[in-house]
Amino acid sequence: THITFDYSKSLPFIQEYEMSDLQSTVRFFDRKIRKSQGVEQNSLGWLNYPVSFDVNEFNRIKTAALKVRGNSEVLLVIGVGGSYMGSRAGIEMLTHTFQNELSTKQRVGPQVIFAGNNLSSSYISDVIDLLEGKDFSINVISKSGTTLEPAIAFRVFRKLLVDKYGRTEAQSRIYITTDREKGTLNRIAKSEGYETFNIPRNIGGRFSALTSVGLFPMAVSGICIDSIMEGASTARTDLTSDDLNENVAYQYAAIRNLLYSKGKGIELLVSYEPNLQSFSEWWKQLYAESEGKDGRGIFPTSAVFSTDLHSLGQYIQDGRKNIFETIIKVGKPNKDVVIENEETDFDELNYLNGKTVNYLNLKALDGTLQAHTNGGVPNLIIQIPEMNAYTFGYLVYFFQLACVMSGYILGVNPFNQPGVEAYKSNMYQLLGKREYQKSETI
Ligand code: PA5
Repeated sequence: THITFDYSKSLPFIQEYEMSDLQSTVRFFDRKIRKSQGVEQNSLGWLNYPVSFDVNEFNRIKTAALKVRGNSEVLLVIGVGGSYMGSRAGIEMLTHTFQNELSTKQRVGPQVIFAGNNLSSSYISDVIDLLEGKDFSINVISKSGTTLEPAIAFRVFRKLLVDKYGRTEAQSRIYITTDREKGTLNRIAKSEGYETFNIPRNIGGRFSALTSVGLFPMAVSGICIDSIMEGASTARTDLTSDDLNENVAYQYAAIRNLLYSKGKGIELLVSYEPNLQSFSEWWKQLYAESEGKDGRGIFPTSAVFSTDLHSLGQYIQDGRKNIFETIIKVGKPNKDVVIENEETDFDELNYLNGKTVNYLNLKALDGTLQAHTNGGVPNLIIQIPEMNAYTFGYLVYFFQLACVMSGYILGVNPFNQPGVEAYKSNMYQLLGKREYQKSETI
């Protein structure tokens, strides 16, 4: 039930010895990761979290999720970046494609709506419209507790909630996910008596999908968070070796760096399942923020095929040869559709009689793989048996570990994001925020 990694389709693009040459580098950085040495010592909390997490809080998350499922038609999740992308990825991968559009009778659990990831007044106004007449709860997530986008959304939607239910009931419908002690959000939570979940200080935003940050919204959506942690915990055990022949996360880290060194500066994460679109968004953030610094890094982007075969496909096949693809291949669909025989065969599709749509999807994958590889685009294949909570947990852990190793091979610190600060300080200065007024960053 685990994932497999196949880089054979990329071997023609590198020299055979190059992979084994990286073995000693990988071994060195594995030691660095395991011993949590150096400046990153406070950023590796996620490494053992699947087995060291706080069970009491985990149970509190489940209880609170049940309560929200019982009293809310909508859960509004307020957060930006690492504070919402993991739960969104999990929810879209693991629930019905039209989860939010299904009728209350068909749907398992409340609608989950995301806010606080933009400063669009149109978007915020539309969310207000959507909440009209509906019972809802709010989960606001911010590790620093000070990020402007979620803070603004919280101010708007908390008022809506208090106006609707009164202060006392509103209090029982607000869940705060933040640092245990620090930040504005923590202070608000304490003074108002909101239920809070902790973001461990040694786990950065983009590495927090498997903490309360991701777990609470996913539990509200009816996803089995025990299975998620089980998948992550198995990945943790499976991916302990520092031997490149045995550790598939390190293989992925190594080969993508080799492809980068051959001028393949763009990585396209490809899936053939629309339900994986937000997973790709999560992956993009993880890799872009961890690796894109010091003038270096692979530019991570994504596509969903067949959709994008009819838009980006032309460029991938025939454009500049600076791209490689990483495919997430799903072994078995959640449900399948069989193509039935039609007596008249007016659409001339009877030659596919008895085949499933998934069979066609896999053939599209094989055909594309061959065409792109022949067209000079190296491909990597990560296969999961199916899209379930267990494989979600496994995949998240796999990509996080691979990301850190990859960043180290590249020669950057994968845990900071100095580039994100520049826009913030300019924006705060333009807005006249007190401590930014004297800043000279603009
Ligand atoms: O990965 C990260 O560190 C960032 O994407 C953060 O998650 C994002 O900036 C949100 O920060 P915060 O949770 O402090 O509001």
